[in-house]
Amino acid sequence: MIARCAGAALHVEVRGAGVPLLLVHGFPHDHTLWRPQLDALGDTARVVAPDLRGFGRSDGAGTPGSASVTAGAPGGASMSAGAPGGASMDRYADDLACVLDAVGERRAVVVGLSMGGYVAFALWRRHRARVRALVLADTRAGADTDDARAKRRELIGVAREQGAGAVAERMLDGMVGKSTRARRPEVVTAVRALLAAQPVAGIVDALQAMHDRPDSTPDLATIDVPTLVVVGDEDVLTPVAEARRLHEAIAGSRLEVLAGAGHVSNLERPAAFTHVLRELLAALPPEDG
Ligand code: MLT
Repeated sequence: MIARCAGAALHVEVRGAGVPLLLVHGFPHDHTLWRPQLDALGDTARVVAPDLRGFGRSDGAGTPGSASVTAGAPGGASMSAGAPGGASMDRYADDLACVLDAVGERRAVVVGLSMGGYVAFALWRRHRARVRALVLADTRAGADTDDARAKRRELIGVAREQGAGAVAERMLDGMVGKSTRARRPEVVTAVRALLAAQPVAGIVDALQAMHDRPDSTPDLATIDVPTLVVVGDEDVLTPVAEARRLHEAIAGSRLEVLAGAGHVSNLERPAAFTHVLRELLAALPPEDG
C-alpha cells in the first residue's frame, strides 16, 4: 500500500494478522531487507514494513517523486536530479507514526536494524505512545564521532559522483559477516543488489541525517517497554560491545547474540532472528485499553 506522509508517497508492505510489528530497515536498504521475517511472521503478527523516505519505492525527502528521477548513474543505480534533501531521524520517525496511522494501528512492536534503530530512538522520543515494545538490532545509541562524520561526508561525495553501485562496494564487507561471506555467497549477492538499487538522493539524505543525528544514550534510561537487543557476533559496524551497552542501559532488556551473523543479522541467521522475535511477541503483556 501507499501511505501519504508530509508530501511523500511511502511504499509499505503489509502482511498477516495479529500483533502489529513495524520493521524499520537500515542504510542503504529498503523493506525487502525483511523478506525472511515478512514471509515467516504473518501467522502471528501483522507485519508492516515501509520503505523509508528516499529508499526503495518511496518518494525522497521533501520532493515527491524524486526517488524515481533517473540520470543513468554508474553502477546501474538511479541518480537524483538535485533533490534538496531534508531527511532527519525525526522526519523518518514522524513518517513511521504516519504509516501506523495509515495502517490503522495505535501501537506496534518496533524493530529497527542499524539506522532503523536510530529511527526507533527518535520514534521513542517523539511518539513513545506508539511503541509497544522495541527490538534494537545491530545498532548503537551514540551519535557519530568526528571521524565517522568525515567518512559520511566522503561517502556523500562517492554517492553523488559514482552512484549507488560504488556505495554498495564500499559498504558490502562491513554489512555481511565473515561466515556468510565464506559460506553463503548468494546472501552477499542479494545484499549487494539491495544496496546498489537504492536511489542516490535517498542515500545522500540518509548519510546527512545520520551525520547530524543526536546522541540517544540519555533516552535509554527512559525506555520502559519490553526490549530485545539483537546483534550478530561478527558484526563489525555495530559490534557486540555496542549491543551490551544498550542492554545494560535499558532496564529489563534481553540480549541475544546470534553466532555466525554480521551486520544484517536478520538475513544472515533468518530463522534464529525470527525465533527471538517470536519469543518476544509471545511474552508481550496484554494491551490495555
Ligand atoms: C546501517 O546499516 O543502517 C548503517 O550501517 C548505519 C550506519 O552507517 O551508521
